[in-house]
Amino acid sequence: MIILAIETSCDDTGIALVQVRGKKTPSFSIISNLLSSQVKLHAKYGGVYPSLAKREHQKNLPILLKKTLKKAKEKGEEDKSFSSPSFLPRKNSAIDLIAVTAGPGLEPCLWTGVNFSQDLAKKLKVPIVPVNHIEAHMLANLINGNRISIIFPAVCLVVSGGHTQLILMKNFGKYQILGETRDDAAGECFDKVARILGLDYPGGPVIAATAAKFSIPNSQFSIKLPRPMINQKNYDFSFSGLKTAVFYNFKSQPPKVRKSKEYIKAVAFETQQAIIDVLLQKTIRAIKNYNAKTVILGGGVASNAELRKQLREKIKKEVPNTKYLIPDIKYCTDNAVMTAVAGYYSWQRKKSWKNIKARANLKLN
Ligand code: KG4
Ligand code: ZN
Repeated sequence: MIILAIETSCDDTGIALVQVRGKKTPSFSIISNLLSSQVKLHAKYGGVYPSLAKREHQKNLPILLKKTLKKAKEKGEEDKSFSSPSFLPRKNSAIDLIAVTAGPGLEPCLWTGVNFSQDLAKKLKVPIVPVNHIEAHMLANLINGNRISIIFPAVCLVVSGGHTQLILMKNFGKYQILGETRDDAAGECFDKVARILGLDYPGGPVIAATAAKFSIPNSQFSIKLPRPMINQKNYDFSFSGLKTAVFYNFKSQPPKVRKSKEYIKAVAFETQQAIIDVLLQKTIRAIKNYNAKTVILGGGVASNAELRKQLREKIKKEVPNTKYLIPDIKYCTDNAVMTAVAGYYSWQRKKSWKNIKARANLKLN
């Protein structure tokens, strides 16, 4: 089966063409993966500007689609050799299913993708399926052309610019939110702290790179930031207080210090570590409490090298029998390949979809 997937939940326009092989534990191979990033456009606002993002998606989608359909046609011609009827090319292309992100995300952006996909599905006469963006971030772990199995129950930590959630996954489509952020998401905290420090947007990669240059023994700064809610016996998070603590620390420094590389490195390091400490503590507790057999990391913040490393070390030490799945770094941030994977599983659950609606707060399940 060949899936065309469309992702426009935030500031990246993504279109991908993914081939699914096998049924019980399928493998997902990428035929084409196109992404048009709007990072530079939004950088001057220090965050995503929804009406601007919507306009860019409208502009980018037809361009990316044209390139993708060309690939689909080529694939369709090759696929004549397949014996299974589902692989036979259709009149226009080899596409069997269209998957589109329906939420959560920025509603004007989501609608652009949904309307575009519904029109395309009609034109190509192929079925369409809505995708939950959080589920897509979780299932980004299954992209690599090989069969990857999740042993259930799994605990999933989804950390992005818009979300921070701990989810118990009992099976595909069977999700229970254990906890989530009460205010800012982890990625949002990285972005806002970067802004305070005068660093570029998006803040996550810049904070990570700046923190990597910090060395505790050589620094004249010893900054201590709070670890919000770390000892509370729930699975919720709160990161807005952390950002505020950075703000007050920054304001209390003389102007010369605020601009100094050493100070900025020290704050970046401590911010990153505070976020990681809270995420790790709650994730490990969820694994233990729910006897999870697999732990899954996903979302833009999952590309953070320290988070990936420290979670691996903590799992090894505290819950060594738990399988650890992390997506390839390029599939942590928004992309349409993960939309195709989640679309496949969504399609297995329900095949007939009409009038898909975009929802800013679309829930899992
Ligand atoms: O998943 P994503 O692409 O978009 C949303 O669905 O929100 O995540 C974007 C977020 C941004 O907040 C960005 O700063 C953060 O992921 N991010 C990182 C890193 N790379 C991206 N945060 C920490 N460390 C990174 N290396
Ligand atoms: Zn995302």
